[in-house]
Amino acid sequence: MPVLKGKELRVVGFLCNWCSYGGADTAGVGRFSQPTDLRIIRVPCSGRVDPMFVVKALLGGADGVLVSGCHPRDCHYSQGNFYARRRLETLKTFLPALGIDPDRFQYTWVSASEGQRWKNVVSNFVEKVHQLGHAPRIEEAAPYLPLAAGGDTPRAPLRPPLRPLSYPAAGTLAASLEQLREKIRAALPELDCVIGWQQGFDTLHATPLFMRKPEDVDKLTWGPLNVHNLATYLPQFKNRKVGVVVKGCDSRSVIELLQEKLVEPDNVRVFGMACEGVVDMTRVQRALDGTGNADGAMCADTAPSSVGVDGDNLSFEGEAPARLKLADVVAEKCRTCDTPVPLLGDVAEGNASAPAGPAPDAPPSLEALDAMTPEQRRGFWRAQMDRCLRCYACRNACPMCVCRDHCIAESRDPHWTTQEGNVREKLQFQVIHALHLAGRCTECGECQRACPVNIPVLSLKQWMNRSVRTLFDYRAGVDVNAVPPLLAFAVEEKNIKEHGL
Ligand code: FES
Repeated sequence: MPVLKGKELRVVGFLCNWCSYGGADTAGVGRFSQPTDLRIIRVPCSGRVDPMFVVKALLGGADGVLVSGCHPRDCHYSQGNFYARRRLETLKTFLPALGIDPDRFQYTWVSASEGQRWKNVVSNFVEKVHQLGHAPRIEEAAPYLPLAAGGDTPRAPLRPPLRPLSYPAAGTLAASLEQLREKIRAALPELDCVIGWQQGFDTLHATPLFMRKPEDVDKLTWGPLNVHNLATYLPQFKNRKVGVVVKGCDSRSVIELLQEKLVEPDNVRVFGMACEGVVDMTRVQRALDGTGNADGAMCADTAPSSVGVDGDNLSFEGEAPARLKLADVVAEKCRTCDTPVPLLGDVAEGNASAPAGPAPDAPPSLEALDAMTPEQRRGFWRAQMDRCLRCYACRNACPMCVCRDHCIAESRDPHWTTQEGNVREKLQFQVIHALHLAGRCTECGECQRACPVNIPVLSLKQWMNRSVRTLFDYRAGVDVNAVPPLLAFAVEEKNIKEHGL
């Protein structure tokens, strides 16, 4: 008999088979009166609960989600709940980024003998969800685009400390590049290929270069147009000897790949160059032709005949010569970058201006998200996901997205997402991406750069990274020997407190 007389909300419970499900059973056998809002899904262990289960339920219309497992140290698989605790706490701190009230999700521990405790847990949680009321649906939120009209990426103002960004004089830069070429030529006989950059289909764009013969090395370029993170290619060369040219931020991706054993240290040769920033092509386009085309595709016959960098200026020669301040068109990540010099590498060439100070805790795009109310965040993601094409360019450009042949977003078994073009499915894919990168994302920004419609998806990963930093004092891609925090646990977690229920 429903206690709430038909006024139940939709609360989903994931209960471990061995303890909490038994506890719920004990409460039933003891005839404890409980709210009837909870719909229980039995799982083998709390460690089986992928945070995606919770997000899918919440985006799909659940008003609350409860996860319950055995008490710490009592897991029947010995460590499942320790791993679950890290994952679920990370998720709890991530939900506000989507405009979801974190109080709608709770996790706890109940043993099979604790019928009374189970009754209290369910009653307290359901009462809290009732106080919150029905969960607002993201697809019904009023679209919110605070900083820019026309579907462009909202940009928060950049705040100091900002790097000064100044490339060496053209002659010095050319000399450094020549040294780098020499070192690559010398190493080439031992390697299958070395990956670098070359001029692309026009002077404004660089494209990846796969150097296999010494004469290929002549095409290698270096400068602010080398936007791609070439570490993305490394997993494809597994078990082959390969070299890669990296900027400082790219080197963190190589470190993360080495940490996760996705590439072998003996098979990878890293050629590092100090970096003074790479351009944001949308800003360059806007400055040059005033269109700011999101696809960055300036017509080939209107592209400059040459592009050069000298100090803190970019110069464009051709029919409409122009000179732009590097600081005005550089990618947002470069102004606050604290790793301009590669953290590993057989070769380090050139100099880079030092960071002007410690990197801000919240980069500008994350700051913009922070400033929104939960309702605005729902409207923000609704408006952004309306524009998403589901092209998966963000995933394909990501150096840490390594299971793309078996990507959960395209899998039919299990069938996590449909191919429908609605806001919920598209946001769910972005959340999958952010969750899979928790504790792994090096913030190279490739996901956002590759997006053809300029959706600021990096801010989701930045939010996740901040959570991981706060909870586990960990930064991805700086230490080859470190263990990513979600692949580890501590019996006593320093920064995770029990949530009273
Ligand atoms: Fe219950 Fe692992 S078996 S949490």
